[in-house]
Amino acid sequence: MFACNVLNSLGIVVCTASLLHKISNDGGETWGHSTQWTLRLRSHERCNSTASCHGLVGYKAPNETTLAAVQSLFGVPHLRSILGANDLLESTPANATVRQGQIIRIPFDCSCSNGTGTSRKIPVYTVRSNDTLSGIATNVFSSLVTFQDIAAASNITNPNIINVGQHLKIPLPCSCDPVDGEKVVHYAHLVASGSSVEEISRQFNVSADALLRLNKLASDSDLEADVAIDVPLKACSSMISNDSLDSSLLVSNGTYVFTANNCVKCSCSFANNMTLQCQPSQISPSNGSVCPSMLCQGTDLYIGNSTISSCNRTTCNYAGYKGQAILTSLANESTCPGCELRFISML
Ligand SMILES: *[C@@H]1O[C@H](CO)[C@@H](O)[C@H](O)[C@H]1NC(C)=O
Ligand SMILES: *[C@@H]1O[C@H](CO)[C@@H](O)[C@H](O)[C@H]1NC(C)=O
Ligand SMILES: *[C@@H]1O[C@H](CO)[C@@H](O)[C@H](O)[C@H]1NC(C)=O
Ligand SMILES: *[C@@H]1O[C@H](CO)[C@@H](O)[C@H](O)[C@H]1NC(C)=O
Ligand SMILES: *[C@@H]1O[C@H](CO)[C@@H](O)[C@H](O)[C@H]1NC(C)=O
Ligand SMILES: *[C@@H]1O[C@H](CO)[C@@H](O)[C@H](O)[C@H]1NC(C)=O
Ligand SMILES: *[C@@H]1O[C@H](CO)[C@@H](O)[C@H](O)[C@H]1NC(C)=O
Ligand SMILES: *[C@@H]1O[C@H](CO)[C@@H](O)[C@H](O)[C@H]1NC(C)=O
Ligand SMILES: *[C@@H]1O[C@H](CO)[C@@H](O)[C@H](O)[C@H]1NC(C)=O
Ligand SMILES: *[C@@H]1O[C@H](CO)[C@@H](O)[C@H](O)[C@H]1NC(C)=O
Ligand SMILES: *[C@@H]1O[C@H](CO)[C@@H](O)[C@H](O)[C@H]1NC(C)=O
Ligand SMILES: *[C@@H]1O[C@H](CO)[C@@H](O)[C@H](O)[C@H]1NC(C)=O
Repeated sequence: MFACNVLNSLGIVVCTASLLHKISNDGGETWGHSTQWTLRLRSHERCNSTASCHGLVGYKAPNETTLAAVQSLFGVPHLRSILGANDLLESTPANATVRQGQIIRIPFDCSCSNGTGTSRKIPVYTVRSNDTLSGIATNVFSSLVTFQDIAAASNITNPNIINVGQHLKIPLPCSCDPVDGEKVVHYAHLVASGSSVEEISRQFNVSADALLRLNKLASDSDLEADVAIDVPLKACSSMISNDSLDSSLLVSNGTYVFTANNCVKCSCSFANNMTLQCQPSQISPSNGSVCPSMLCQGTDLYIGNSTISSCNRTTCNYAGYKGQAILTSLANESTCPGCELRFISML
């Protein structure tokens, strides 16, 4: 139905006309499909800062495949980033099966410029024989992008002409904008058929109002199956210092990430009161060096450790990293009823 890009080279307007013509021949509901077509062109999320941040999209596997194949398709450098984004065990093998239709969250670096956010560098898709630009957008990348997005990102003037072996940039949608003053992780969620704003709001614990506003939707009837909408996921609050190299680290509920050159693993869960929980990752840094000390100064506590003595719970928290050092902060908290909650922090 959306193969119209192979019919004409003059862009969207003529393409729409071809589409209408085709549907009319079938006797279908012309205007309904026309609306869907228009909505599909609106895939980029706003991103009016010049920031970069973590982006997240929900990829719907078109066929049974493996995590390794998905990792390769999206050019994600480390499998563990995909495992973390999907809250899968770190021991999950690369050849683990991904079922047809299963949603896999893909993490990537998002950067904003000129009012839109996209993955600038990945994925890169190599054209195979019989590929069409719209087929790549809808079938291979499960409609997370439109063929127009790909054409624009890859500087293709005639979308009908792509060559076997050609490398195409796939600009995944993302945003770094705060929502209602809160830092969030923007997640591109493919709307399931028959879903509602209310249901999506409950599924992701996001206000229905924010969903409607962010996606410029008037009501449920504007939702289209298999079209991505922007879901601003809540992120855990953290003790990370604002001058740390990862000061912008945002980890959404039910995910984990590796930071400080992979030396530290941080996870976010509702069960932990939406407070970031970090600990040594036990992974060697990629640059071949060793991880710096993760002890809180003057104690025998590593980040993530806590001790309780009488009424005091002392916790060693991750506070970021700088150069060759990992920053820590020590928090004291009263565990006795009737006592004031006290925090003493030091770097
Ligand atoms: C981005 O846009 C939103 C609303 O569209 C506005 O509230 C916010 O101030 C803007 N931020 C910047 C950095 O321009
Ligand atoms: C994955 O690979 C391991 C060995 O490398 C093998 O034992 C296992 O059966 C494979 N699993 C799947 C689902 O292919
Ligand atoms: C920025 O966006 C505006 C409108 O969306 C467009 O007219 C302009 O060409 C874009 N500039 C660049 C450098 O992409
Ligand atoms: C491409 O399409 C032709 C004709 O439909 C078919 O014979 C051929 O097997 C296809 N090639 C691939 C790689 O799918
Ligand atoms: C999915 O599987 C079908 C049948 O095996 C195949 O024709 C199609 O190209 C596959 N799609 C993708 C995106 O690999
Ligand atoms: C896009 O392609 C045209 C024609 O090949 C070329 O003139 C132009 O500089 C290219 N733009 C970018 C941004 O690569
Ligand atoms: C956090 O995730 C869990 C499971 O993934 C979910 O049940 C819960 O509603 C989520 N809570 C928030 C605040 O997002
Ligand atoms: C998010 O979850 C909390 C705790 O379960 C609940 O009180 C709140 O109403 C939820 N908010 C939304 C928008 O779903
Ligand atoms: C970092 O935070 C401190 C206090 O919380 C503040 O004084 C300082 O201006 C902040 N620095 C930056 C670069 O935001
Ligand atoms: C969770 O956070 C709230 C507010 O930040 C706090 O009042 C409450 O004591 C925390 N609960 C636990 C179990 O830490
Ligand atoms: C302290 O943290 C280290 C590193 O994560 C861990 O191996 C150790 O078991 C923890 N000790 C306690 C007492 O929790
Ligand atoms: C709790 O910790 C603080 C700061 O380390 C210390 O001054 C205080 O004496 C401790 N209180 C108890 C009851 O251990």
